[in-house]
Amino acid sequence: MTDPLPYLPNARPRRLRRTPAMRRLVRENRLHAADLVLPVFIREGLTEPAAISSMPGVRQHTRDSLKQVAADAATAGIGGVMLFGVPAVRDAEGSGATDPDGILNVALRDVKSEVGSDLVVMSDLCLDEFTDHGHCGVLAADGTIDNDRTLVRYQDMGVCQADAGADIVGTSGMMDGQVGAVREALDRNGSSDTAILGYAAKYASAFYGPFREAVDSALTGDRLSYQQDVANRREGSREIALDLAEGADLVMVKPAMAFLDVLADAARMSPVPVAAYQVSGEYAMIEAAAANGWIDRRRAVLESLTGIKRAGADITLTYWALEVAEWIRDA
Ligand code: PBG
Repeated sequence: MTDPLPYLPNARPRRLRRTPAMRRLVRENRLHAADLVLPVFIREGLTEPAAISSMPGVRQHTRDSLKQVAADAATAGIGGVMLFGVPAVRDAEGSGATDPDGILNVALRDVKSEVGSDLVVMSDLCLDEFTDHGHCGVLAADGTIDNDRTLVRYQDMGVCQADAGADIVGTSGMMDGQVGAVREALDRNGSSDTAILGYAAKYASAFYGPFREAVDSALTGDRLSYQQDVANRREGSREIALDLAEGADLVMVKPAMAFLDVLADAARMSPVPVAAYQVSGEYAMIEAAAANGWIDRRRAVLESLTGIKRAGADITLTYWALEVAEWIRDA
């Protein structure tokens, strides 16, 4: 009789897939609540939480509902929260970002008073929510982004956020030198314990679409002159290396799912923890497909997060953080 498996007859990987217990034993990657960070939106002047139509299940928070979410996050044992502020008034310089009574700084103090050191509290260090033109930096007379004048704004913003209690500031504006500039300002302020999450490799992605609604973005153009071209992998490594050299305590790749190669590169080269941001469009895609009955929502969410982890993320920012923490409690 001829051998039914003539080549490598001993190679039977299915042995390890036979039972749930066996699959559990040999599973290479597991999700942990502690690795997940929940991005949250706080909007100035809201009296009730407001739905975001392109992100079903995600809301803009009031000061009170934000405190509740932070308490829930601490109870759920997730790794942290990342705060985004939506101010009532915007101007060319993004003044609200550096006003101690600006919405993001107020929210940081609220959240810190609620959770203390039980939860890592992070804040978005970027001007786009605060500028009336919606760009991540201030503009030069010719309408281009003035990189170095923006750095000074980021320095002030970082100091405000540190003073308001941020444990980690997330430099997401993609200006050259932002990590070094913010580190220098924080140290000068006596905030040497405040850590920096460098949004090191951040791409000019279509997947930020729903976020623009979440923060009522004023942007009309695009961010192609500062965020990376989606086609570039090697450049992602360069950006990671620069943020590391400037003193980033953690580095991030963003978005996640379309940039898993960049994430794997970062995981290989980085001596500090690597984060990935599963952005609004990634969330919206799965929610929309699931709402149509086209995919199994829970399996798709877990698969997406497992893939991000498998590619090398130590930490993942995801709008599903609280729900997933619940699901994986006993995993
Ligand atoms: C910029 C910023 C953006 C996101 C996080 N920080 C938007 C952008 O770069 O245009 C997007 C996050 C998401 O889509 O979930 N401060």
